[in-house]
Amino acid sequence: MIVAIDGPAGSGKSSVSKEVARRRGLTFLDTGAMYRCVTLACLDRGVNLRDEDAVARLAHGIAITFGMAADGSQTVRLDGADVTEDIRTARIDQSVSIVAAQPRVRERMVALQREMGAQGDVIAEGRDVGTVVFPHADVKVFLTADAEARAHRRAVQREGGDTAKADASVSVAEERQILDDLRRRDELDVTRTESPLKAAADAHVLDSSGLSFDEVVETVIGYMG
Ligand code: C5P
Repeated sequence: MIVAIDGPAGSGKSSVSKEVARRRGLTFLDTGAMYRCVTLACLDRGVNLRDEDAVARLAHGIAITFGMAADGSQTVRLDGADVTEDIRTARIDQSVSIVAAQPRVRERMVALQREMGAQGDVIAEGRDVGTVVFPHADVKVFLTADAEARAHRRAVQREGGDTAKADASVSVAEERQILDDLRRRDELDVTRTESPLKAAADAHVLDSSGLSFDEVVETVIGYMG
């Protein structure tokens, strides 16, 4: 079975997908982490993000692997080094859309994602999973939420808090910065020519703004039948 969850940044795709994966025994595939790895590799190795030849070469030459930490959380490795935290920083948030807009980078990532999808039952989350990566997915969900709700979740996540708790407190300034970044990133993801962020025609569109975490998880599991 393949379940595809797409949606804008901070819509809860990742935490919802992980929980559905846990409850239904699926492998969780975080496609955004892969674009983040390419971006981190460029920044660390001094590759100009706008030099499409150099970025494409790098995207084809790196190894991205997923593993599991002792506490059961997912780890991400770039050429063997654990980059789970390094790919979640603000500097990656600010640059990843430039890399993700490049056709040759996408071609490589989509090929890797399909290889991973061929290995068993998968719930994959990203921006183009239901439209491009797995157009024949068994279940497609397009998860949205209003921008403020998404920014709040991201801010709580970055402080190591529990996004399932609506009242978790974070600084207003930080939340505003995250909101600006989210809006800018959504704009770039929606307007790019290559695989823009959009709902597949056969996706269930689910707005999580007024729903609890559990309600969203239950709804997605309900779609799976
Ligand atoms: O989901 P996450 O915020 O980690 O994704 C980081 C970035 O990677 C997104 O803003 C988007 O530019 C890109 N992305 C993409 N296609 C995907 C997943 C992520 O273009 N399937």
